[in-house]
Amino acid sequence: MAAERIEALKQEIQKELPQLTDTEAVDQFRIRHLSRKGSIAQLFDEMKHVPPEDKPAMGKALNALRQFAQQAMDEAANQLKTASASADDAIDLTLPGRMQRRGHQHIVSRTIEEISDIFRRMGFSIADGPEIESDYYNFEALNFPPDHPARDMQDTFFLDDTWLLRTHTTPVQVRLMEKYEPPIRAIFPGKVYRNEVISARSHVQFHQVDGLFVDRNVTFADLKGTLVSFARMFYGSSLKYRFRPSFFPFTEPSAEMDISCYLCGAKGCRVCKYTGWLEILGCGMVDPNIFVNIGIDPEEYSGYAFGIGIERTAMLRHGLDDIRLLFENDMRVNHQFN
Ligand code: DAH
Repeated sequence: MAAERIEALKQEIQKELPQLTDTEAVDQFRIRHLSRKGSIAQLFDEMKHVPPEDKPAMGKALNALRQFAQQAMDEAANQLKTASASADDAIDLTLPGRMQRRGHQHIVSRTIEEISDIFRRMGFSIADGPEIESDYYNFEALNFPPDHPARDMQDTFFLDDTWLLRTHTTPVQVRLMEKYEPPIRAIFPGKVYRNEVISARSHVQFHQVDGLFVDRNVTFADLKGTLVSFARMFYGSSLKYRFRPSFFPFTEPSAEMDISCYLCGAKGCRVCKYTGWLEILGCGMVDPNIFVNIGIDPEEYSGYAFGIGIERTAMLRHGLDDIRLLFENDMRVNHQFN
């Protein structure tokens, strides 16, 4: 009777062994059969009621069963351990590789380069100047006298009474004319700074490219020819354009150049503010006063100049409506321009 019970339990245990495939199952098995209240301990308990002559045989059989169950469980647990360890260092050669994104230029740098390329092909060289500028180069030499209201057009970060963060790339014109004899034909891209509230339309730091051409007999027709060629190469060969009179202290006459809105085909949209036109740059003939200040004879030489906002250009070209998108380095935005 007792021997049959032991045999039945052994068979039950054997049947359960193939199910020990995770640690939870192993644990349950241990509790069910090998713990102090488990099935084997219960049979040991029942030895009390067995006739004395049967006790040794039953004790032996129960010990054997306990050993068997313990061993089988240890083996199952060991197997689980090695299986999970080898899964950890297994290399699955069928998995797809991790893609590395290729790096690319930021859209601001690329816009500067594309604009520079076009002017380089038209015979302009590339120059630069300091970002910390003196009041003289940023304003005074460009015909903004002290207290002149035109200074309010450009909110300035002053460092002290003399030095400031340049508000435009135009001071490089003065530096070039001081340093070189005409003919001078150069563009100068770079960073500029304005003390403005950051919004969708303005930022405290952005980029411009200024251009200057000084030689004998330079006329407004030369300016138009060069800028129209630039605009056609940059924005497309079929665009319409117009020059509107404007004011800058350092050019006379001054103008702003508009191109027909290519986003809506000049029908009127949000970007062109329903006018059909996009303003793309400021320009003009170098004011003779500037030449006189620097010591160039305005009777002998004349010149034209222009200034282009880089971020504005990039935004127009790609239909962006918030300048902050260009500076926040959100990769979801940046990767759209590679
Ligand atoms: N410096 C001007 C600005 O920041 C832009 C500009 C206009 C530059 C006309 C020029 C120019 O060289 O001729 O608003």
